[in-house]
Amino acid sequence: MAEIYHATATAPVNIAVIKYWGKASTKLNTPTNSSLSVTLSQDDLRTITTASCSASFDSDALWLNGAPHDVSNARSQACFAELRALRKAKEDQDSSLPPLSSYKLHLISENNFPTAAGLASSAAGFAAFVRAIADLYELEETPTQLSRIARQGSGSACRSLFGGYVAWEKGSREDGYDSIAVQVAPESHWPTMRAAVLVISDAKKGVSSTSGMQATVATSTLFPNRANVIVPARMEAMKKAIAEKDFEGFAELTMADSNSFHAVCLDTIPPIFYMNDSSRAAVRVVEEINRCAGKKVAAYTFDAGPNAVIYYDEANEDLILGVLKKATDHVTGWSDKYSRISPKVPDG
Ligand code: PMV
Repeated sequence: MAEIYHATATAPVNIAVIKYWGKASTKLNTPTNSSLSVTLSQDDLRTITTASCSASFDSDALWLNGAPHDVSNARSQACFAELRALRKAKEDQDSSLPPLSSYKLHLISENNFPTAAGLASSAAGFAAFVRAIADLYELEETPTQLSRIARQGSGSACRSLFGGYVAWEKGSREDGYDSIAVQVAPESHWPTMRAAVLVISDAKKGVSSTSGMQATVATSTLFPNRANVIVPARMEAMKKAIAEKDFEGFAELTMADSNSFHAVCLDTIPPIFYMNDSSRAAVRVVEEINRCAGKKVAAYTFDAGPNAVIYYDEANEDLILGVLKKATDHVTGWSDKYSRISPKVPDG
């Protein structure tokens, strides 16, 4: 029987504090603006993927949470092709290496959180996909070099190859070569940062991020100002807030950018609603916590779904989790999950 080679990798979810929304090129999956995220703990929200390959496999295949998933789509194919090309280059240099680049791949992936409910499942999914195959092929590429590949699977996936605070720089090259993720600061730089994830709904989102982005870019009159003026300034301000561990600055920018992202969604024709009444209730609770504290001690953000992620500093944990628990106890279907940001992914 032909030998089976395998490697296993995990990738955590990242939650953007400056959001990616809009594609400059759908083919290359490059963004209209840079973005910045915080990587969450692998203990709570992560994908684990085992990649295997063998001369005996007759097609590429992926199983996600036990169910077969199509890999014939252009996104998955782009990742396979790039990773195989890197492996092939290694094999061409060293003829003693087994020809893994010519074998079909099988991927088995599991998420420990709701898939496609605005919890960045595709980010962790494609990051683990790329990391597992890169490990299987024993590639020496850095996380930033691999981020160029993961980006082609799912934009936000490029940021999940790092722990800590991560920027996806949009780049300016026509071929997308400089549209890559870089670590802004490791988790250890600001180890007291915490995130509470309020799962309001684990239903699949109504409008996929790809079709939502395309509609926003095509129709929103607010969008050009967000992408070209507001976000570039916020990226700089956010990097400074992180460098200075300025929680108030971080919180103001995070909430403003979440609101701006949902505003351009509402400004899309037809309008896109990702937040619901429970999401808006979470906003009010955070506003009330901050009003009572007399300063910003908590920051909400929402991705392409109704679930809330609330960032806070460990020093305020009892206050914030206590109030959130009280405020959400009576709301059915609203569970809480508290995460630390991840120290476990290589710092690149
Ligand atoms: O990477 P995608 O195509 O799933 O898009 C993610 C978009 C947001 O989650 C809403 C924002 C972000 O930067 O992660």
